[in-house]
Amino acid sequence: MIRIGIIGYGHRVACLATGQLKNAAPDMQVVGVVDPNEAGVRKRLSDWGCEDQKNVPFFKDIHELIRKSKPDGLIIGTRCNLHTPLAIQAAKYDIPLYLEKPVSISMRQAQDLEKAFCKTRCQVVVSFPLRVSPLCERVKDDIREGVVGKAEHIAALNYVPYGTCYWQEGYRNFNITQGLFLQKATHDLDYMTYLMGSPIVRVAAMATYGHVFGGKKRKGISCSTCDATVTCLESPENRRRVGLGSKKETDHPCLYSVDCGSPATGTNEDCSSCLVEFATGAHGIYTQVFFTRRDAGRRGSIVSGYKGTVSFDWYTGEIRRVRHFQPFSDTVKGSGGEGGHFSGDDELARDFFNLIRGRIKRSRTPIETGLASVYACLAAKASAETGRFVKVRQVGL
Ligand SMILES: NC(=O)c1ccc[n+]([C@@H]2O[C@H](COP(=O)([O-])OP(=O)(O)OC[C@H]3O[C@@H](n4cnc5c(N)ncnc54)[C@H](O)[C@@H]3O)[C@@H](O)[C@H]2O)c1
Repeated sequence: MIRIGIIGYGHRVACLATGQLKNAAPDMQVVGVVDPNEAGVRKRLSDWGCEDQKNVPFFKDIHELIRKSKPDGLIIGTRCNLHTPLAIQAAKYDIPLYLEKPVSISMRQAQDLEKAFCKTRCQVVVSFPLRVSPLCERVKDDIREGVVGKAEHIAALNYVPYGTCYWQEGYRNFNITQGLFLQKATHDLDYMTYLMGSPIVRVAAMATYGHVFGGKKRKGISCSTCDATVTCLESPENRRRVGLGSKKETDHPCLYSVDCGSPATGTNEDCSSCLVEFATGAHGIYTQVFFTRRDAGRRGSIVSGYKGTVSFDWYTGEIRRVRHFQPFSDTVKGSGGEGGHFSGDDELARDFFNLIRGRIKRSRTPIETGLASVYACLAAKASAETGRFVKVRQVGL
């Protein structure tokens, strides 16, 4: 039996614990939880039919959880602002840690986290499923095998078809997330770094706020207390009419309310982009758009070198390889990659248990990957705010 302690047992971790983690280790047992919302967690476990966790004990903090339940591994899945302080506590124990992203939301937090992990043997699996997804690994193999030659350029796109969650759920709380570079681009800048085989050293970024979402509707308003649901495209009835959202949805917080914040107080961007320079001197672009819907969804990139170009998209599961100097181009169609985050969550779950069982010595997404991505995202955020190029702090310097 593998004994797991969970700190922050919210929606994301509950999905993993009942899905990918359970699949990877059917003998996994949740032996302790730290979460101030015990009633909410117990209700979710009951609603989801998790009978085996009915009597799971709750503890006041990580130290008590470890002392009393002796877990083999820890999972931190709180909201973003708490990842760093809790991971610093976990670093005191040499127990493998699954840590949600972004690992930090400020420069201060990131530097504190880096310092804490200089002095520990605690191995971390940062929750970066894209990097380890079979499609991304296949593209990395193509690059290693020389399909493009030396990778000189990357153009990465992320047209998010579910972006309304960033205006109608807790993710709209800017104090907790610090915006969508840290919340979303942290994944993409990480896998771009991996594919290009080089850290990002300089960023220029731009963001658009308040053109689509956000607004002046009163505090606390939701569809059930609004008189514009007949015309509002985001009302449950209109979403149902065009096949968006859950059929069961009857109400949600307003996407045009002051609760979404403002550019002055901090708010999520409708879309944002950055130009990145890698240490090799190669460069690339990344752009993310949060108001696109349905078939507009697209996530992936085009990597080019003098010898060839390889492009891929997680939504279609396809890789296209073009040899610039040979009369060959081909398309590889992936199969079976429909799991969480294009099967990346399954890979991370396996890595986590392999670390716990001592079958691997090192995570594919160690703490350094989380930190490097946060430093790049913080540079992008600072650049969008100031209109200047920003140098990216490097891990270990
Ligand atoms: N890796 C990915 O692809 C991915 C996908 C989705 C979400 N996430 C990340 O997962 C995190 C959680 O998101 P969610 O949607 O599950 O949020 P959530 O609000 O459903 O869950 C957070 C949980 O943390 C608990 N909590 C609050 N304060 C705490 C404390 N001091 N100690 C312990 N627990 C505490 C809350 O009660 C709640 O149960 C976010 O940071 C998000 O960025 C990552």
